[in-house]
Amino acid sequence: MHIAFVASEGVPFSKTGGLADVVGALPRALAALGHQVSLYLPRYRQTKLADPATVVRSITIPFDDKYRFASVVTGGSQFGVRFYFIDCPEYFDRDALYGTPAGDYPDNAERFALFSRAVLEATKILGVPHLFHCHDWQSALVPVLLRTVYAEDPAFRDVGTIFTIHNMGYQGLFPPEVLPLLTLPWDLFTMSKMEFFGQVNFLKGALTYSDFITTVSRKYSQEIQTAEYGFGLEGVLRDRAATVTGILNGVDYDEWSPQADKFTTAKYSPQDLSGKAKCKQDILTAFGVTNADAKVPVIGIVSRFAAQKGFDLIAQIMDRLAREEMIMVVLGSGDKQFEEMFARLNKQFPNKIALKVAYDNAIAHKIEAGADMFLMPSKYEPCGLNQIYSLKYGTVPIVRATGGLDDTIEPWDARSGKGTGFKFTEYTGEALLLAVKHALQAFRDQTSWQVLMRNGMSKDFSWNASAREYGKIYDRVRQMRGVSQATAEKVLV
Ligand code: ADP
Ligand code: GLC
Repeated sequence: MHIAFVASEGVPFSKTGGLADVVGALPRALAALGHQVSLYLPRYRQTKLADPATVVRSITIPFDDKYRFASVVTGGSQFGVRFYFIDCPEYFDRDALYGTPAGDYPDNAERFALFSRAVLEATKILGVPHLFHCHDWQSALVPVLLRTVYAEDPAFRDVGTIFTIHNMGYQGLFPPEVLPLLTLPWDLFTMSKMEFFGQVNFLKGALTYSDFITTVSRKYSQEIQTAEYGFGLEGVLRDRAATVTGILNGVDYDEWSPQADKFTTAKYSPQDLSGKAKCKQDILTAFGVTNADAKVPVIGIVSRFAAQKGFDLIAQIMDRLAREEMIMVVLGSGDKQFEEMFARLNKQFPNKIALKVAYDNAIAHKIEAGADMFLMPSKYEPCGLNQIYSLKYGTVPIVRATGGLDDTIEPWDARSGKGTGFKFTEYTGEALLLAVKHALQAFRDQTSWQVLMRNGMSKDFSWNASAREYGKIYDRVRQMRGVSQATAEKVLV
């Protein structure tokens, strides 16, 4: 089957978070199963292409005020996946993908509407797929356009759409005026389509118009149908419950494993863990910690700084956590509020929290390898990749039992020697502190700690199984489309 992936970021071309990891790896896993996969991304300033070649010279996108123009550049193909980039320097040749620390770019609706529309037009020249597989609000207009503006277009008659939710917290909310500006029909501005508390909601459009909706863990697929996690769209999702499912993300072990890691100072494996001590020393040095005893446990954090990630809980209990024997190494960037919070904690407890405010892939790898534990106290977490990476590195996850964190981490039980990490459920500082203390205590018994490490290292979250699950959904959507097409033809006769 020919699948066109449409997304706003993908490794190795662009990345701000886990979406890019998924978009970088899943197409390859699908291609390995025999699918034909094309991946469409915007061409950003940070997109580095070895040998770019223009394959579509000019696509005209009508906006209300004036026409916009885009071209399509190919990045060639690798592992059976073809890469295409929508090139429109006016919109994408900028410092960042979505905005600056001061906020989102004010023309994001136009930027990603142009992107979605240009993808549809490009496929008419480069090959219309059987299915479009879209991801998050930035590509949400693809299913909307297909069933409205392009509804009568014979090129797309049988094409199906699958939409994957990576995060309900980002919906693409814009003022109503964007509809006429983007030449979208006004009747989309109703509660049953894209209207959302007086605004236009791109994500809601995709949830309304896609043939099938997936999200990135089983637990999150249930959570988002409740008011606590649905961000106001729980009703829309409940209405579509029969076509909503959770497929856990896989991870790319070529990039993320202690045997293969290109960024770490030493390699190690479950059979020979000795290299991990060198990685620990290396990460402490990288964070300027020179006087720590090698036996002191290191707790790592690598994250976007956003309310989703639950770091306010750390601030609540840091004074008590600071009494424990441990050191936290924190790499992250994002919301000013959390950058400042960590800077404050770092100043107050300089021997307990080491901080780098940065986006740095090499350091991210070094933390996965060098830390003893990895902390993710997320308020919500659709899947979460870092805890899965951590398992492979024998870096024991301490997580809140939500979304994919709950689905991937099994609680450690010292008596049976089973389990892979530490979990807490209640969203409170107390619960977090208890879980961390539990982990620190377990760390003191190094013999059983190594059992725990190896339990995690032996887990296999590679993409193959999840790619097969997507394959089944693709078949279902093809069937749905085929059936509805046949029915439509019967009605016509
Ligand atoms: P999310 O997509 O919500 O940010 P995930 O756990 O799914 O969370 O994925 C985060 C990805 O982004 C991981 O690959 C992680 O290593 C990377 N990442 C996050 N913050 C940073 C950072 N400050 N520097 C380098 N990599 C980061
Ligand atoms: C999102 C989520 C994260 C998930 C990632 C990839 O950004 O916050 O939990 O792992 O997408 O699906």
